[in-house]
Amino acid sequence: MASTAATATHVGLDVERIRADFPALHQEVHGRPLVYLDNAATTQKPRRVIDTVTHFYEHDCANVHRGVHLLSQRATVAYERARTTIKDHLGAADSREIVFTRGTTEAVNLVASSFVRPRIGPGDEILITGMEHHSNIVPWQLLCEATGAHLKVVPINDEGELELDRYAELLSDRTKIVGVVHVSNALGTVNPVKTMIELAHARSIPVLVDGAQAVPHAAVDVRELDCDFYAFSGHKTYGPTGIGALYGKREHLLEMVPYQGGGDMILSVTFDETIYAEPPHRFEAGTPNIEGAIGLAAALDYLSSLGLDAVAAHEAELLETATEAVLAIPGVRLIGAAEHRAGALSFVMDGIHPHDIGTILDSEGVAIRAGHHCAQPVMQRFGISATVRASFGIYNTMDEIERLVEGLHKVREVFG
Ligand code: ALA
Repeated sequence: MASTAATATHVGLDVERIRADFPALHQEVHGRPLVYLDNAATTQKPRRVIDTVTHFYEHDCANVHRGVHLLSQRATVAYERARTTIKDHLGAADSREIVFTRGTTEAVNLVASSFVRPRIGPGDEILITGMEHHSNIVPWQLLCEATGAHLKVVPINDEGELELDRYAELLSDRTKIVGVVHVSNALGTVNPVKTMIELAHARSIPVLVDGAQAVPHAAVDVRELDCDFYAFSGHKTYGPTGIGALYGKREHLLEMVPYQGGGDMILSVTFDETIYAEPPHRFEAGTPNIEGAIGLAAALDYLSSLGLDAVAAHEAELLETATEAVLAIPGVRLIGAAEHRAGALSFVMDGIHPHDIGTILDSEGVAIRAGHHCAQPVMQRFGISATVRASFGIYNTMDEIERLVEGLHKVREVFG
């Protein structure tokens, strides 16, 4: 996994060529060339993804798994081929281990409803960490409310790293699942998920990894991690919105009850009995986001074609440079200074609200996110309400970091 401490061979990205592939980057915002540093919220889309989705609508638009006609067959082939692309990208063994979802949020809800709920009862525990996104907190709270189970939380230290000793202590015979974020969206911390999975498995506890901020930045191998479930979102990985995927070990998916009922998730229906389809279709009720799945596969193909080691090295360099440059500005305090970070830089400026910083940066053409980043417990841990977050992608440049720094100096001028 990429980090500021990564030593991966840097074969280099041709960033100018990459930028040419992203139409949205070539615009002015408030009269200044756009600097897009909000990639952790969503990434821009390369021409290949846009063309793939357009091609689907112009040539192959039909429903999947339902028609004998040619368009439906073409749509079905493309949809199922997309599943194989995702399987390959994540290093899974079998494309039947890939379930299409709306994104990471739906994937976590699916695991909570279909895998954990039938196995959990009063007094049991769900273990998550203090740096989870709300999407890996609220589904578990809902499950706890419904079942009488308890939510346990691994604390974070002052550097923004998980306290691993506490993690090991919190694993118990009552723990029914561990949910952990691979890379924190609010802090950029890369968590030692492989070690955490080993510790959980030593007690036969399954682990769900939220990979929404990991898949865009580096190679992920679910078999090497040996995670039970791995979720990610298309739109943070240069793909369309409203699509994502859940990897689940086949033995788990086979045991799981359906998540939603409807068309395409059944083998047969009578008023007396319904026989469910095999996974993954058992979990894909209704017409799926066909063009989203196909677009996501195009995005992953594009990312892979750049070389994931080169992507990780490029972004590690951006993050390191941005961290140094931003810290050199008087009054800036980093929130999260973990040894291993990827993708995002979070900070505050003394006496200036992050929303004001975001507004001034926007007027300079620099897009960042200011807020709690859907991770309010992280903000509470650091005694703040919000941070400024600059998050990087394959098309960002050192010049853009200079624009960010210039913008922050402007903020200081405005606020005296
Ligand atoms: N989860 C997204 C973010 O971190 C929206 O900005």
